[in-house]
Amino acid sequence: MVFHGVLGIVALLFVSSSLAGPSVTAGRELYETNGCIICHGLYGKGDGGAAKTLHVKPADLRDASRFKKGSSEAAIARTLAEGIAVDHYWPELKATHHYLAMPKFDHLTKTERRSLALYILSLGKANK
Ligand code: HEC
Repeated sequence: MVFHGVLGIVALLFVSSSLAGPSVTAGRELYETNGCIICHGLYGKGDGGAAKTLHVKPADLRDASRFKKGSSEAAIARTLAEGIAVDHYWPELKATHHYLAMPKFDHLTKTERRSLALYILSLGKANK
């Protein structure tokens, strides 16, 4: 009986985690654990530690209306999947991963990218 109970709980946890949709809370955690802070800073201001070493300045994530590739949840999730190519070509960056101004996060699931998008949009709202 006890064994079945444990199995039941494990099954329930599995089902609930796989059914969970995107959320701001999950997005915040992903933002903190996927290196976004290094470039965009803890509060998304574009002032992370690596920002000054980059050719292209990281975007201020508090103003989605200025995003080049769209500011809807779906558009931001797509940007995260594709990364952002540099619009100017620096020869010294050839054969490095820096042909992208921002790396792509295609190893995350679609739901995770949507959570990140929701979190970023929440930064803008908190700022108004
Ligand atoms: C290596 C540094 C770096 C990391 C790490 C990084 N970004 Fe960026 N990000 C950039 C740069 C640089 C730009 C601006 C690109 C441009 O203007 O062409 C940018 C732009 C953006 C934009 C605006 C896109 C647009 O359409 O203009 C969003 C949203 C964004 N980043 C989200 C994130 C999230 C979320 C993470 C973590 C999962 C992340 N970034 C990690 C460097 C980084």
